[in-house]
Amino acid sequence: MSNISIAIDGPAGAGKSTIAKIIAKVKKLTYIDTGAMYRAVTLKCIQEQVDLQDHRQVEAVLMDTKIELIGDSIFLNGTNVSEEIRRSEVNKWVSEVAKLSAVRKKMVEMQRAIADSQSVVMDGRDIGTFVLPHAAYKFFLTASIEERAKRRFEEQQQKGFSTSLAEVKSEIENRDRIDTERDLAPLTQARDAILIDTTGLSIEEVVDKILSYIQ
Ligand code: DC
Repeated sequence: MSNISIAIDGPAGAGKSTIAKIIAKVKKLTYIDTGAMYRAVTLKCIQEQVDLQDHRQVEAVLMDTKIELIGDSIFLNGTNVSEEIRRSEVNKWVSEVAKLSAVRKKMVEMQRAIADSQSVVMDGRDIGTFVLPHAAYKFFLTASIEERAKRRFEEQQQKGFSTSLAEVKSEIENRDRIDTERDLAPLTQARDAILIDTTGLSIEEVVDKILSYIQ
C-alpha cells in the first residue's frame, strides 16, 4: 500500500502542532514537525555565530548539521534540543534562517524523503503548497492574532519562560510577516486546502472537524 500524507499549514500559534499530533495518534501516522527542523538549524547558526548574509558560512554550517526526529524529540548532531529550540533567541531568528535557499533546500529534501518512506501528518508553512503538493489531505489552520498570541503566551508561561503577552504578539506578527513575504515557498493557503479558523474552537472541535474530512 502506498503512503498517505496529511499536510497542516498555517501561521504561528494557530494550533497546528497540537492538532497534528492528535491526528497522527488517532490515525496511527508519524507526526513530523517541520518548524522544529528550521528551529534546530537556527540554533546551530546561533551556536556557531553565523553571519546569515554570508552564504558560504551558512552552507558550511549546514554540512555539519545532522537533524533527527525521534518520537516527539528532535536531535541536533546527536543532542536532544527539543526544549532549547523553543527559546526566545530561536524565535527571534528562525524566520530569517528559514528564508535562506540552502536551508530550505536541505530541509525540504529531508521532509520529502521522510514522507516517501512512511505515512505522515506534517505541519509547517509550505507543506501543502510546496513540500507535498500531492498530499491526500491539506488543511490550513488559522485564528485571530489575539487568540494565537494568548495561546503562545500561556504555553510559554507554563514552560516558565518570562515574557509578556505584548512581546509574544509582536514576535508572532513579525514571524508571520517574514514567512508570508519571503520569496521561496512563502506561507500561504494551498488552493486545494481546507481552511479552518480555530478562533473560539476547542482542540477537540478542531480535531473532529479534520477527522470528518479524513474518514
Ligand atoms: O512551526 P514553528 O512556529 O515552530 O516554525 C518556526 C519557523 O520555521 C516559522 O516561523 C517559519 C519556519 N518554517 C518554515 O519556513 N517552513 C515550514 N514548513 C515550517 C516552519
